[in-house]
Amino acid sequence: MCGIIAYHGPRNATEIIVKGLKTLEYRGYDSWGVAIKNNDKDFTIKKIVGKITESTDVDGMPKSNIGIGHTRWATHGGVSEKNSHPHLSNSGKIAVVHNGIIENYQEQRDFLIKQGFKFESETDTEIIPNTIEYHMNRGYDFIDAAKRSLNHINGQFAIVVMHSQHNQIVAIRKEAPLVIGVGKKEFFIASDIPAFLDYTKQVIFLEENDLAIIDNEDLSIFNFKENLVVNRKTTSIDWDAEQAKKGDFDHYLMKEISEQADVISKVVSLPAKQIKDIANEIREAQGIFFVACGTSAHSCMNGMYLFSKTAKTHVNFCVASEFEYFTHFLNKKSLVIAISQSGETADTLAAIRVAKERGAKVISIVNVMGSSIMRASHKTILQGAGPEICVLSTKAYTSQIAILSLIAHELAGQQEEGRSKLKELIRYIYYLTSKAMRDHIKELSERLRYTQHIYLIGRGLQHPTALEAALKIKEVSYIHAEAYAGGELKHGTIALIDKGTPCIVFTSDRTEKEIMSNASELKARGAYIIGVGPKNNELFDFYIKVREAEDLNSICQIIPMQILAYQLALLRGCDPDKPRNLAKSVTVK
Ligand code: F6R
Repeated sequence: MCGIIAYHGPRNATEIIVKGLKTLEYRGYDSWGVAIKNNDKDFTIKKIVGKITESTDVDGMPKSNIGIGHTRWATHGGVSEKNSHPHLSNSGKIAVVHNGIIENYQEQRDFLIKQGFKFESETDTEIIPNTIEYHMNRGYDFIDAAKRSLNHINGQFAIVVMHSQHNQIVAIRKEAPLVIGVGKKEFFIASDIPAFLDYTKQVIFLEENDLAIIDNEDLSIFNFKENLVVNRKTTSIDWDAEQAKKGDFDHYLMKEISEQADVISKVVSLPAKQIKDIANEIREAQGIFFVACGTSAHSCMNGMYLFSKTAKTHVNFCVASEFEYFTHFLNKKSLVIAISQSGETADTLAAIRVAKERGAKVISIVNVMGSSIMRASHKTILQGAGPEICVLSTKAYTSQIAILSLIAHELAGQQEEGRSKLKELIRYIYYLTSKAMRDHIKELSERLRYTQHIYLIGRGLQHPTALEAALKIKEVSYIHAEAYAGGELKHGTIALIDKGTPCIVFTSDRTEKEIMSNASELKARGAYIIGVGPKNNELFDFYIKVREAEDLNSICQIIPMQILAYQLALLRGCDPDKPRNLAKSVTVK
């Protein structure tokens, strides 16, 4: 949520920042802006409402070695130029970009107004440069003033600050992501690694309460909670710059859907020892809880079914934002398994915090190395799915299910069998994303493009698949889609089924009898039935064949649905990579 990029070094900062913002746009695209430090010691500011386009170039913007940029997902204050970042202090000498929430901003704003400061925007951010300026007016230098300001600001934030008359950049991390890219005599600061992956793979993950100072070729880090200078190690990232680009694809969404065979082969090569170790933790725990949000929550639901059937292990599942209401059961023997692509989701982090306060152990499955969730966990399995840039989660989802299936098999003493099943699936996944499949689904998307409602049902493992398929359709095509466990629709929602209402029915060998009887109930009300599964049926008006893969049906059956969502978005003129109102990495509660 909101993307930050800053540069300090010998290259043209403007170019690097604009390019970085294009890469980071999945974090928010209400507006964007840059502040470039001019040689004559002021800033050139550019702020634009809307997405940064591929064609935005840096012509007309000054060349400089220092600058900051921001792409915004609006929280405090509407979408407007004046609310866009960077925000300046009253004197115009201090520029700030910010991701997160300042909880006491109203109080601090009132205080600053009493001191004679004026505010132009409706944002919480604007108090930051002015609080720093307030301290500078009282005689503190830039760095000390930035440090002192932190005593007046509460909340979760990542902040980057620069001063028009200093060559330093200050970066502050408190419960919102911020990484430093270390190049040769140059530094990059960003919310996410892909923003600078073209230039360096050497990164420093700032820890909570770190304040980093980049002063020409030097970097120093001060932890403001511990009140001491700290050393943070540099890590080499194995992501490739190309992985974060669209390549031959028109959109990241289709690129990432197509990468799922490779992503599953990454899971296949996870060390057996690591899976064993996690399974042992699960065996030893008394009370296991899955927590996550959105698509990752659907992975948890898959995990619940997989653990129950394959591993005969009971797990509880709770969406992360509701977890705090169930914590009475947590103790030192509990185990919380948190799942997150980004590793930065605020609700999931909050659930982890509550679990740790009660002494529970936390294991996470995350895709982003060095992320907050990874660092807050006692142990982590890294998904290795590579950067997921599209706002919709696709490849991270199937990789999470594959990992959960491996763990479930290990719990049942069958890790190798679990691995073989995944391996066997890889070739089939290539087929599921092939042109033949895409063409077939295109026919369906043409039939559904003007529909207003779609209902989806599935039983057992097909229930989370139905939920996830509905989420994909909703978020990218804006068609209302609602999913139910097969048996549930008749308890109320069937009242909405009318002649021609599209209903997607997920089947499997295990659930066929019962789900087909639910399908007949819909057909009797005139529904247009779309079947997804191993066997065709006379009830189906449209059929997508997906071969039986038992426990791994969830991986196979979701892929055609991801493609359907993509094609519906295209036909309805929606942006497949950046759906309205959304942002990748939801870093606010
Ligand atoms: C949907 C989607 C979101 C995320 C959710 C959790 O396509 O991407 O629902 O799954 O915001 O994000 P992570 O997995 O990063 O914690």
